[in-house]
Amino acid sequence: MDNDYKLKYYVIDKKDDELLDFSKVFNNDNPIYLEIGSGKGELIQLQSFFLKNINFVGVEIKSKRILNTIKKLDIVHNKNVRLLNLFIDERVKDWVKAKTVEQIIIFHPDPWPKRKHFNRRLIQHAFIDSLSYLLKNNGILKISTDHPDYAEWIIKHFRERDEYIPLFNDESRLIFPEDHFTTYFDELKASEGYPPQFLYYKKIKDIER
Ligand SMILES: C[S@@+](CC[C@H](N)C(=O)[O-])C[C@H]1O[C@@H](n2cnc3c(N)ncnc32)[C@H](O)[C@@H]1O
Repeated sequence: MDNDYKLKYYVIDKKDDELLDFSKVFNNDNPIYLEIGSGKGELIQLQSFFLKNINFVGVEIKSKRILNTIKKLDIVHNKNVRLLNLFIDERVKDWVKAKTVEQIIIFHPDPWPKRKHFNRRLIQHAFIDSLSYLLKNNGILKISTDHPDYAEWIIKHFRERDEYIPLFNDESRLIFPEDHFTTYFDELKASEGYPPQFLYYKKIKDIER
């Protein structure tokens, strides 16, 4: 299939002057699963193929990775995917409608292991505010990380929030969930001795602030 056609189909052309409404983008009201940092698109390709009644939105800042993703997708088998080529941060409130996402997926976010770079980590309280803005009540947030220190950082941040409850304990976070689609990166890190930790949360209420 022609790449220009696929680009037009898959990449959301976000208008600056209106809030993005996913039900209009997909022309239906199926649940939205939003993947932040969708990388080269391995997960979105698999999930969209097997879960046809879900709409998947991949957000990725690197345009080359958006192109890699598009190469993996085809309009018959991955009709239910759209991509946003942008850096998602707390300004999300300015461009997308609130509480329209059923599930947010953040797998293997960059760990920024050096202390002087901790402020670049995606999981910060201002960013969690944005996740809460996007998620519907009872929506699920799925985070995985192969970096033990980052796992502790994430757990500490969510412990300080009362709008989320963890869906894991110290044992279960090390077990691949039944509904997980294992990726190349999961397997690579596990073979290097860094198995992913699955830190899943449920949003139980809106932020009180
Ligand atoms: C370590 S990679 C993981 C990719 C993929 N999730 C996986 O499991 O293989 C992190 C990805 O997130 C992207 N990224 C990081 N912060 C982002 C942000 N705020 N908005 C959009 N993309 C982001 C990076 O460009 C990179 O492709």
